[in-house]
Amino acid sequence: MSGPVVCRRQGPLRGDFEVPGDKSVSHRALLFSALASSPSKVRGLLAAEDVGATRRAVEALGATVRDEGAFVVVEPPERLSEPGDVVDCGNSGTSLRLLCGVLAAIPGLSVLTGDDSLRRRPVRRVMEPLRRMGAVLHARDGDRVPPVVVRGAALRGTRHVLPVASAQVKSALLLAGLFADGPTTVEEPHLSRDHTERMLRGMGVDLRVEGLAVTVAPGRPRGGTVEVPGDISSAAFFLCGAAALPGSRVTARNVGLNPSRTGLLDVLRAMGAQVIVENAVDEGEPRGDVTVVASPLHGTAIEGALVPRLIDELPVIMVMATQAVGRTVIRDAHELRVKESDRLASMGEALVAAGARVELFEDGCIIDGPTPLSPVAVRTRLDHRVAMSMAVAQLFMEGGEVHLDDVSCVATSFPSFFRVLDRLTESSTSLSPTGREGRADSSTSLSPDGGKGGLPPARGEGLGEGKR
Ligand code: S3P
Repeated sequence: MSGPVVCRRQGPLRGDFEVPGDKSVSHRALLFSALASSPSKVRGLLAAEDVGATRRAVEALGATVRDEGAFVVVEPPERLSEPGDVVDCGNSGTSLRLLCGVLAAIPGLSVLTGDDSLRRRPVRRVMEPLRRMGAVLHARDGDRVPPVVVRGAALRGTRHVLPVASAQVKSALLLAGLFADGPTTVEEPHLSRDHTERMLRGMGVDLRVEGLAVTVAPGRPRGGTVEVPGDISSAAFFLCGAAALPGSRVTARNVGLNPSRTGLLDVLRAMGAQVIVENAVDEGEPRGDVTVVASPLHGTAIEGALVPRLIDELPVIMVMATQAVGRTVIRDAHELRVKESDRLASMGEALVAAGARVELFEDGCIIDGPTPLSPVAVRTRLDHRVAMSMAVAQLFMEGGEVHLDDVSCVATSFPSFFRVLDRLTESSTSLSPTGREGRADSSTSLSPDGGKGGLPPARGEGLGEGKR
């Protein structure tokens, strides 16, 4: 689905669903397999635009990637080589940052760029520590934003202490460390997602974790089979919606349960939702089935080490918090300001326009609930999670509409999002105790100029006015 849409569904949310493969694990599966000494098979790879960018990038560096039934097979070249053209990472910060670490060691010249959103996102955080390893990188606007130009160089093993917990920066440095002349250590203030550590170790790399410090020895991964679990960040839209919509009960099947990613489940429980985890498997990337049953919710505090464990879920957690009784406080989340959009600003603007009580800070916000939400027109700002979060917010508008100006961004991580949302609201229709018939509603694609009658004016100007 692309262009503008009108959302007009009605909850509750009911039923089982599966989400596509985890985005972070999918990027890593392609990139690490391309570096390996032998071929790999990847099952459950996310088929979405962001991972497509990593796929095209590794092909440009000499790897062969082909679909074989349920698997994607990656054949690495003898050694990766200089790409023949500029590498376009589209909307994907993970592709661009991780590639900086790899390209820093590949002889030749590489240029990394991306879409309007990615070309506004910071790269100095990855360039500076790479330079300390001997890497040669330059970027636009005083080394602030992409495009990034990388010239491959000999790298030194280095100890890094990161000022922010960032899995993308940590991973870029660990990847560069594979090519360095000695061990490379990365220490973070809090644990960010550890998919890189798990996967590199699974591929035979000598990697040790001591507290918040990870040390990698130079070496080459060996190929193998990678199983990609469902993306808990995609499941989050339905889990949060179900927690707050009376009468809901949903089960996400086969989602990733890596503890560095499950902060959302802690928050759901802290807010009073019923969360049931079943069929948990703990090998490689842990996974299982997660059921959420709606319950009266209350506000909570989200800060410190919890934040990196749910950073991508915060937009939809903000939506859920508008329906909880009392105050939800989010702090230590500056990183939200440098995602696909400034998510504090995007979500704050959209929720305030819908009548929520949101006060923004530099590193978070206060949300006072519960507030009924009213119809709203939303600027998605090329940010998939803003679009999907506000499609969920519409369920709290009692039949009111959300107009999303452009949902093409949803394809970056979750192309089937609206279909799953339709199915879960549809099953609620058929299960409705009131015997209501037929579809409650759906998302209607609007022609760029058409169908805007009755569009409520954006009411985003009150941002920051805080509690009313
Ligand atoms: C990601 C890490 C996170 C997350 C992003 C994906 C990754 O960013 O927000 O969507 O795959 O490494 P950080 O680099 O801030 O941890």
